[in-house]
Amino acid sequence: MADKLKVGIIGIGAIGAIHADAYRATGEADLVAICDVNADRLASEGERLGVKHRLSDYRDLLKVDVDAVSVCVGNALHREVAIASLEAGKHVLLEKPMALNATEAVDIQATAEKSSGVLQIAMCRRQQPQSQVLRDYIAKGLLGEIYHMRAVLVRRRGIPGLGGWFTTKALSGGGPMIDLGVHWFDLSMWLSGHWNPTSVSARTYAKFGPKMADYTYVSMWAGPPKFDGTCDVEDYSTGFVRFGEKATMSFEIAWAANTETESFVEVLGDKGGARLFAGDLRIYTEQNGRLVDVEPKFDESANHYEVQAQKFIAACRGEREPAATGSQGVTVMKLIDAIYASSNAGAEVEIK
Ligand SMILES: NC(=O)c1ccc[n+]([C@@H]2O[C@H](COP(=O)([O-])OP(=O)(O)OC[C@H]3O[C@@H](n4cnc5c(N)ncnc54)[C@H](O)[C@@H]3O)[C@@H](O)[C@H]2O)c1
Repeated sequence: MADKLKVGIIGIGAIGAIHADAYRATGEADLVAICDVNADRLASEGERLGVKHRLSDYRDLLKVDVDAVSVCVGNALHREVAIASLEAGKHVLLEKPMALNATEAVDIQATAEKSSGVLQIAMCRRQQPQSQVLRDYIAKGLLGEIYHMRAVLVRRRGIPGLGGWFTTKALSGGGPMIDLGVHWFDLSMWLSGHWNPTSVSARTYAKFGPKMADYTYVSMWAGPPKFDGTCDVEDYSTGFVRFGEKATMSFEIAWAANTETESFVEVLGDKGGARLFAGDLRIYTEQNGRLVDVEPKFDESANHYEVQAQKFIAACRGEREPAATGSQGVTVMKLIDAIYASSNAGAEVEIK
């Protein structure tokens, strides 16, 4: 068996701890270093994980003998930390969104191309078992030609940490599109194989967040609200994307809207369609002259963070391509930039 990969985690918050557990579960990585500016978190996670090197400055972690790092800090630090890690010769598993915007994402990708390191973007939803099953159906041509996708993620009330970094554009890059839309856009393009969005007509709204103290909700993740903080991001977006002449995508991505909570990615093919739900998959097709719904069985216990870590380790060893590439991450960020541009312009915009 190959030597274990020596890994470090930069930012050992909510998702950083999940990366740590996922690496451990693979049995193929040694977590030798963690880094966080929060001293209490660093100490408690360091104890829990039994990690040797516990550092408060990521530049010190990059001097430790690690082969690879997970970059799990907030969005505003993705560019700086990912570039420094690649320049230090480390393989990088970079959390989503790839960066605050496409310009930053292009900088990261350009550095990755010059470096010896692997760059994998943490598009973990692809590794959910139902996503893998659907990708396999599509790859084998069972749905025929995919010509339209629908990306729907609408929460009745779900603004995270109102007034904090999530709702501050300079720190997050945007609202629900940056937080959740990246997963749905990535899934739509990865499932369909359509990676060339050419234009978008979109509109974003901010009808709930900016009201701050008047925002009515049941519970708040990443809360509590900071009413003296900032909310300058969208809470709802909708639009229509063209992929040249070949395909289209409609989307609705919201943290808050006066409607039912809904979440799915749908692909429409000329032989079949499919809807990917949070924990389920349904295929709409025809058999024997009848319309039928197929619900493939899959291993529900499979942990997508572990699969993601496993594939990253294999990519670092040169055994496979990264499970989600930097150039795909750039495409998602260009699409999101274009959505904001279209909304501001009140017109369809080209994606270059
Ligand atoms: N793939 C997913 O399913 C998923 C889920 C949640 C979050 N995320 C992404 O992961 C990132 C982190 O989100 P989170 O929810 O874990 O946030 P978090 O606030 O829980 O964790 C971020 C950690 O980074 C630390 N940090 C801040 N500045 C630092 C610095 N300069 N050096 C080292 N550490 C520093 C913070 O102290 C904190 O512990 C975000 O980009 C988010 O979008 C992805």
